[in-house]
Amino acid sequence: MTEPDGKPFLYVVVCAAGIAADVSRLIAAAQARDWEVGVIATPVAMNGFFDTAAVEAQTGRRIRSAWRSPGDPRPFPPPDAVVVAPATFNTVNKWAAGLADTLAVATLCETYGLGVPIVALPCVSDVLAAHPAYNDSLIRLRAMGVRFGEPYSGEPGEDGTRPEFEWERALDLLG
Ligand SMILES: Cc1cc2nc3c(=O)[nH]c(=O)nc-3n(C[C@H](O)[C@H](O)[C@H](O)COP(=O)(O)O)c2cc1C
Repeated sequence: MTEPDGKPFLYVVVCAAGIAADVSRLIAAAQARDWEVGVIATPVAMNGFFDTAAVEAQTGRRIRSAWRSPGDPRPFPPPDAVVVAPATFNTVNKWAAGLADTLAVATLCETYGLGVPIVALPCVSDVLAAHPAYNDSLIRLRAMGVRFGEPYSGEPGEDGTRPEFEWERALDLLG
């Protein structure tokens, strides 16, 4: 649903990976491209993985992490698009399996039924990505239409520096 100010609404789903500390970069880039942004974080991600107060100031909205109480109004309008960044091993596998035990992964599961564009930027180490369940999850989610960024392990390269996490790529992939 387009916001009253005419801007489309983007859900940014944040999981508990170290790179989440930089999620404000994605939010700023999305706002620069005229998205209204609402953040949904996993409960673990809320526990010190990023500056929640700064993100709330940046978006002008409370971060959602738990379900609202029955009878409470929906805090966010329905999404026009969803980006999950960073996407953890845990959330990718739960999403593909259709589990809905956090608001974040339940929202991702619902997004398929809504039919809006969805992009995932995983941050998953090579040792975790070797688990066969992870590859199965990627195959299933791709078949559901999820657009993925390049694999990112978060590990330093041969020169000792970490490659950039391609936050803006998520917006490019939305089209
Ligand atoms: C400092 C720290 C960094 C982490 N980084 C990652 C990561 O980059 N990718 C990942 O899949 N899990 C990472 N984890 C593990 C996840 O936090 C853990 O699997 C958690 O259950 C994920 O929950 P969520 O998917 O609900 O956010 C990290 C954990 C810690 C403590």
